[in-house]
Formats: sequence, C-alpha cells, structure tokens
Amino acid sequence: MVPVMVRNTVFLVLGIMLGVRLTDIIGYLKLWRESDLRASEKAALLKYPVASEEVLATWLDREVRILCLVLTMPSSHSTKAARVNRTWGARCNKLIFLSSQTDPNLSILKMDIPETRGNLYAKVRTGMAYAHKHYLNDFDWFLKADDDTYIVMENLRLFLYPYDPESSVFFGCRFKSGYSQGYMSGGAGYVLSRDALRRLNLFALNSTTTCKLNEFAEDLQIGHCLQDVGVIAGDTRDFQGRHRFLPISPYELMPFIELQSWTNGYFFHKPNRSDCCSASAISFHYVKDVEFEFLEFFLYHLRVFGLHQAQRALPSRLGFRQMNERLQHWSRQVTDNRG
Ligand SMILES: *[C@@H]1O[C@H](CO)[C@@H](O)[C@H](O)[C@H]1NC(C)=O
Ligand SMILES: *[C@@H]1O[C@H](CO)[C@@H](O)[C@H](O)[C@H]1NC(C)=O
Ligand SMILES: *[C@@H]1O[C@H](CO)[C@@H](O)[C@H](O)[C@H]1NC(C)=O
Ligand SMILES: *[C@@H]1O[C@H](CO)[C@@H](O)[C@H](O)[C@H]1NC(C)=O
Repeated sequence: MVPVMVRNTVFLVLGIMLGVRLTDIIGYLKLWRESDLRASEKAALLKYPVASEEVLATWLDREVRILCLVLTMPSSHSTKAARVNRTWGARCNKLIFLSSQTDPNLSILKMDIPETRGNLYAKVRTGMAYAHKHYLNDFDWFLKADDDTYIVMENLRLFLYPYDPESSVFFGCRFKSGYSQGYMSGGAGYVLSRDALRRLNLFALNSTTTCKLNEFAEDLQIGHCLQDVGVIAGDTRDFQGRHRFLPISPYELMPFIELQSWTNGYFFHKPNRSDCCSASAISFHYVKDVEFEFLEFFLYHLRVFGLHQAQRALPSRLGFRQMNERLQHWSRQVTDNRG
C-alpha cells in the first residue's frame, strides 16, 4: 500500500512541476511573440506591489538617470534657455546647455563654434563627446533637445524604464531618410542609451571614414552615424500606435486644424490626425514664450477632480532575451513609403 501512495505522490509532484514549467514556457513564448508591452505590463501588475504614482515617479527619478543636453545660443540665454531651465530642464538629473558663451545663471558647456545653423551638428558632437568623457557612468540615458522643446521628464523616465541602457538603442520621433532606419527629429528631442553614446564616441565620432564633420542637419547626421555603428532606432509609439515624441506643438496637432506642416511628409510612422497623441506623450516642439508656463500650468498644476488614477504599478524590465527580441523587432521595421 505504502509504495503505491509514495509512487502516486511522486507522480503528482512531478506532474505539478511539469505543468508549471509548461505554463512558464507557453507564457514566455507568448510574450516573445507580442510586439507591444501589454503582456509584460500585465505580468508586472500581478508581480509588483501597487504604489501611488507620486511614489513611483520619485523612485524613477533616481532609477532612470537622464543627462539633458540643450542646444541654445547667447541671444536666447535669458529667454528660451531660462524658460527651459526653470521648467522641464529642472527635472533632468543634470542639465547642460550647449552655447558659444558662458552665463553665470546657466550651466553651460562653452564651445568655440560660431552660432550658425550649419554648425549645430558640430555643437551636438562636442556635447556628446563631453558627456561621454565626463558622465558616461553617472547617467543611464542622454537626451538632446532644443531650447524650444518641451519634455515631460516623468513620462520619459516611465517610457525608458523597461529598457536596458546597456543595449544599443536610441529613441525619439522617427523621420524617414535615405538610411533604412531613418533618424530621430532633433526638435522633438532624442535620447541615447549609455551604449549608444559609447558607440557614437568610440566608433563614429572617432572615425575618419564614416560620420565626418559636415554641415548637414544635426539630427539627420547623428541618426546616420548611429546606424553606422549598429545603434537601433526604437519605436516610441504607444500600444495604440499614438505618438509620444511630437516634432510640432500640441496646438498644431489638434484634429480640427488642417495644418500643412512640413513634418507631414517626414514621419516614419504617419500619425492619425484624428487621434494623434499618446496619453503618455513625452515631447513637443516649437514651444515659445509663455507657452512654457502654459504647459506647466496644465500639466503640473491643474487637476481635474476625479480624473486621475491614484495608484499603479511599473511595467517590468525586459530581460536580455526580451530586449534583444525587441531590438530585432524594431530593426525590421520599414516604412511603407520611403521618401
Ligand atoms: C537655472 O536653474 C538654476 C537651478 O535651479 C538656478 O540656480 C538658476 O538661477 C537658473 N537660471 C536662470 C537663468 O533661470
Ligand atoms: C543673472 O540673473 C540675475 C537675477 O535674475 C540678473 O540680474 C542678471 O542680469 C543675470 N545675469 C546675466 C549675465 O544674464
Ligand atoms: C578616439 O577614442 C579613443 C579611445 O577612447 C580616445 O582616446 C581618443 O581621444 C578618441 N579620438 C577622438 C578624435 O575622438
Ligand atoms: C484615427 O482615429 C480615429 C478616432 O479615434 C479612428 O476612428 C480612426 O479609425 C483612426 N484611423 C486610422 C487609420 O487608424
């Protein structure tokens, strides 16, 4: 009698173990096939304790460290740069302006490069080299923006959180170009992983053959340099395909405005004009004057009673295989109408 019971118990335990493993494997394969974050977000919701968004955002501020490089020039120090400095720039883990003159009121990397449009690429290269030399290991992500860009830093951190900064990737609003993966709009701002910054500096900016200094548009050139050194252009749209990085102002994106924006023909993924923007949008461009304070008021001050979720969980971080799978998925993205 006893041996039969023991045998049955052993088989039962083995059966349970096998069942659990099979469920794991099936779950893993499923996650693998899905291209959006929803499955992993759901898993995280079950796995991690839920906390208030305020607590999570404070934690993310230390967990996802971002160095911000902002292009400006002396005539804009006291206007545009000062506005960035007192609004979203103050939420960067470190903020550095790129300009040809110093200013006692701003943290500036001074460069002896004449302030012309054709020199923007030279300025960004100098900024990237400086960030690589002095801050590579102090930050996880390296953002480049203009002084008329507005970034919702909290949403940027939440977006970046699942991704490993040691993978070779950069994010932004993807535009089409002669290169297969295109490039990221400079005005919407783009963010490089630590490894992307490392590759850019060690293999691209250092090279005498690829990635030469020239007067092409800064964003296009950096995008092409990054593709040359194997950095993947990531997809920043949400699971409904709505854009998070926006190269125009929120006003111009409203569905009732039939705007012939120059950006229309540039998008790698055309936004749906009736439903353009993600609820977790990250950036806007061509933000001017008092619009900085305007956005601050609506985003950080005004609260609509009853509208906001009080609690949530973070998405889970992607493991090595998941991250590689995601990079491969992105690198296979091609545009339907390359121009
Ligand atoms: C920029 O921000 C720093 C830190 O908050 C502050 O000390 C400085 O006065 C600001 N500069 C300007 C021009 O607003
Ligand atoms: C720095 O800020 C102070 C106080 O806002 C202002 O009086 C001064 O002119 C500023 N300096 C420069 C060089 O802009
Ligand atoms: C190229 O990279 C090496 C290795 O990090 C560095 O020592 C050198 O200064 C770089 N050269 C240029 C021109 O950036
Ligand atoms: C664009 O968004 C509208 C409103 O949500 C929706 O009805 C429509 O189907 C969308 N169009 C496309 C092509 O996705």
